[in-house]
Amino acid sequence: MRKKIVAGNWKMNKTLQEGVALAKDLNAALTADKPVCDVVICTPFIHLASVNNEIDKSIIGLGAENCADKVSGAYTGEVSAAMVKSTGADYVILGHSERRAYYGETAAILKEKVNLALANDLKVIFCIGEVLEEREAGKQNEVVKEQLEGSLFELSAEQLSNVVLAYEPVWAIGTGKTATSEQAEDMHAFIRGVIAEKFGAAVAEETSILYGGSCKPSNAKELFSKPNVDGGLIGGAALEVADFKGIIDAWKN
Ligand code: PGA
Repeated sequence: MRKKIVAGNWKMNKTLQEGVALAKDLNAALTADKPVCDVVICTPFIHLASVNNEIDKSIIGLGAENCADKVSGAYTGEVSAAMVKSTGADYVILGHSERRAYYGETAAILKEKVNLALANDLKVIFCIGEVLEEREAGKQNEVVKEQLEGSLFELSAEQLSNVVLAYEPVWAIGTGKTATSEQAEDMHAFIRGVIAEKFGAAVAEETSILYGGSCKPSNAKELFSKPNVDGGLIGGAALEVADFKGIIDAWKN
């Protein structure tokens, strides 16, 4: 059975002190009332080592929101996959639409990042998704397929087993406008089909595909009820314990 996962993406929010406090509170809440899914929090780089000390890693996994496309050396301001791993983190988000749109991350750059993350024993949460104009033009499947092909298709099946996919329609991120559960299910089934075609049905069956984009406690249960939706990548609602836990608890009956 593939993993059910709820992952938080803090983005560029919270000072170190605020982030540590949030992690502590979340850890307490999930220790008292254990989740039935995997939970991951992805934080700014500077929070990782401190947050790692505050969480029970058997309950909450830790991840970064990005890593460099180079191994090491004279790349001022960059943080390598090996550095991320050395903080205690086990995951890294790659290919988020904000990285693609604002920092020019192409499929080729992301391919390097994915390779380095996997080589450093990090699991990758790889984001894909179309912008509004692409959906309005009916091109969403084509766009998402190209994103998968461009960065992941040279991986082995074994490497892909350390990749979690996150479908995040860009028009739903931070807009309050969630995809309907049918739209999510249609796309997730399509993505699983693309993975099956390339890597085989057994690999596709084991690949977790998360939905992201204005997921909140009020819509999580409906989204997660769909057979191909294996959890969520949560932005805004991951910044408050009650909201994030509400989404985590959507996996409970
Ligand atoms: P949102 O962000 O939940 O705030 O829409 C999701 C994401 O960008 O990962």
